[in-house]
Amino acid sequence: MSATDNALGTATVHPAWLPDAAFAPLGSRRVLVAVGPDAGPVGATVVDEVRRATATHGGSLTVLAPGEALPDAASVRSHDLVLVVASRAHTRGSGAARQVPPPALAEQPPHPNDPLVAAATDGALVATGGVADFSPDMFVRVRAAGTTVVVAGDATGLLYGMHDVVRLGETAFGDCAIDVTDLPVAPVRMLDHWDNIDVHPVMGQVERGYAGGSIFYADGRVREDLSRVAAYARLLGSIGINAVAINNVNVHRTEARLLTDGLADVARVADLFRPHGVRTYLSVSFASPVVLGGLPTSDPADPDVQAWWAAAADRVYATIPDFGGFVVKADSEGQPGPFAYGRDHADGANLLARALRPHGGTVFWRAFVYNHEQDWRDRRTDRARAAYDHFAPLDGRFDDNVVLQVKYGPIDFQTREPISPVLAAMPRTRLAVELQVTQEYTGHQKHVCYLGPLWSQVLGFPLAEDATRDVARIVSGLPGHRDTPSGDLPAGGITAVSNVGDDEFWTGHPLAQANLYAYGRLAWEPEADPVALLDEWIGLTFPGADPRVRETLHTLMDHSWLTYEAYTAPLGVGFMVDPGRMHYGPNVDGYEYSKWGTYHFADRDGIGVDRTVATGTGYTGQYPAPWREMYEDLATCPDELLLFFHHVPYGHVLHSGKTVVQHIYDSRADAVDVVTSWVDAWAALDGLVPDRLHARVTERLAEQVRSATEWRDQVRSYFFRKSGVPDATGRPIY
Ligand code: GCU
Repeated sequence: MSATDNALGTATVHPAWLPDAAFAPLGSRRVLVAVGPDAGPVGATVVDEVRRATATHGGSLTVLAPGEALPDAASVRSHDLVLVVASRAHTRGSGAARQVPPPALAEQPPHPNDPLVAAATDGALVATGGVADFSPDMFVRVRAAGTTVVVAGDATGLLYGMHDVVRLGETAFGDCAIDVTDLPVAPVRMLDHWDNIDVHPVMGQVERGYAGGSIFYADGRVREDLSRVAAYARLLGSIGINAVAINNVNVHRTEARLLTDGLADVARVADLFRPHGVRTYLSVSFASPVVLGGLPTSDPADPDVQAWWAAAADRVYATIPDFGGFVVKADSEGQPGPFAYGRDHADGANLLARALRPHGGTVFWRAFVYNHEQDWRDRRTDRARAAYDHFAPLDGRFDDNVVLQVKYGPIDFQTREPISPVLAAMPRTRLAVELQVTQEYTGHQKHVCYLGPLWSQVLGFPLAEDATRDVARIVSGLPGHRDTPSGDLPAGGITAVSNVGDDEFWTGHPLAQANLYAYGRLAWEPEADPVALLDEWIGLTFPGADPRVRETLHTLMDHSWLTYEAYTAPLGVGFMVDPGRMHYGPNVDGYEYSKWGTYHFADRDGIGVDRTVATGTGYTGQYPAPWREMYEDLATCPDELLLFFHHVPYGHVLHSGKTVVQHIYDSRADAVDVVTSWVDAWAALDGLVPDRLHARVTERLAEQVRSATEWRDQVRSYFFRKSGVPDATGRPIY
């Protein structure tokens, strides 16, 4: 097999989950596409995709142009697949639409394509009112007398519906295909790039990037050749991502200028995302009025500052009319913010929101705010508390085009953290949850670590309203599962840090592509089974492969997050990563006596952070019931989070029946055995997957075994030396 199965002219770039072969079932069919008068560039993308697929695989394409006379019913039905944009009388926030039945069709004005829908579906769809009241991203797929029909409210819905057919493959054309109505839960499904224009001598070009340089920037500017961005946009559109921020949240001097001098180049990037339904955002510096505008202040209350932002936004929208808005990291890890002027985060966020408001733009304001100059001797300050302490009192003060972007855990994208209580504390604020696809703390894309199961747990965690409203519902503005308020809840979205670079495989480790794929698919449907999504990714990425490929990838990946957790920091305590190697590899005390506020407090007697109300930092008190009580009490605190919430002796017996120290010994040793077993399993796929991909994964697996062994030996030895308790199994300790 070849790694160059790609029709974008970028011969050395791996096609990820969109190889031409994945389009064979669709491409071998007779396809009719009717995109309607307002279909725009996304409609053109749908036509192009089908044209390319049918040209490659021997099918045929009929395009019904706007205004063209409708073919008779029989000729419509002579197609295997009809993709059609139909009436869309009401456009609603897609978050709300999933739960609400469509209103009667009679309320809707007729649309030129409705008779086509009726013909294609033999009247079934119109008769049930099924084409009424589409939200923009929604589509309906039905199978009627040998024809598969996808009806969408607009072109983006049609793009998503077309890719749904690609994912289903032959099943979409079988008479067992189940009719579906599908739409995303969250209105915004975003990726943030921590890409810089300049290359940092230590950090590289992409902060926490493990896949080479930036696809956006080279040689100190936006790339001339943006073909990788075009290919990336296509990948994102296929999984429902609809927003991308193209520069690092730490906005340095050169990148700050994207907002002003760089706008023409940002517009070139936006032009490539637009045809795939993706809006472009910029990370901006709160100090822009000073650093770009030459003003003496960036104070939100200063009229000149307000005017500066308004003029900046005007220029942005004059250049990019569908620009999404700003992402802002303020008063965090040295970034400028409103605190310098005695203002709070609501003052700061609203300043920018008011500049964007006339144009329909949104501010994604990050809640990742804490004291990064902490004295480790101070046991009362708790970094975990910080976001809630800063933001919960501001609930209700943010303008409605501000979304507060909250990392899923209270610390920093650790392998295991409790869910941030901020997500339950601000019912009058639009909230987005922030995930990390780039593997900063999960093995730098050198380790296999499929994160779908982690995100699935995060999004499905029933944090609020007495454990009835999960994170996905909170950020989508949906009420809880049981008797919870159903008033107008503000929707924010789901966002994540991208893991992509200019690497041949996009993600360094080819199997890390699955994380990007699963992120998009979970942002669309948080209740999806992450292992089923992995299976979907395997089917698309390795179409027609020997069944052993699928089997082996499941063996390696299904539980790889838990395996990674099992050889790194134990029981939710976090960190233990090496600051000197950019958070890669073990260094148990690496952050213990530092200013960063992430400590494990291991001594000769025990380990963990007492965050209880009774005797600790009081962090558990930030949670609503029942979580507050559950985490507070040693008897009910889940094992996997024990050391996040409690300081316990090494002999403390877990719910699993093991002592803490024996758990540390066993899980680290067992996990390395698991990783070691992957090497032979993968070797057996030689010749069954593309050679270059096989070689890359082989090389990374060798490093994973080396690194996991290092983790095992350091962590086990560290705790033996601290505690003096021998490993009951007698396995070697150094
Ligand atoms: C982490 C990460 C930083 C990043 C920060 C953020 O601390 O190590 O590189 O800037 O998160 O999310 O802003």
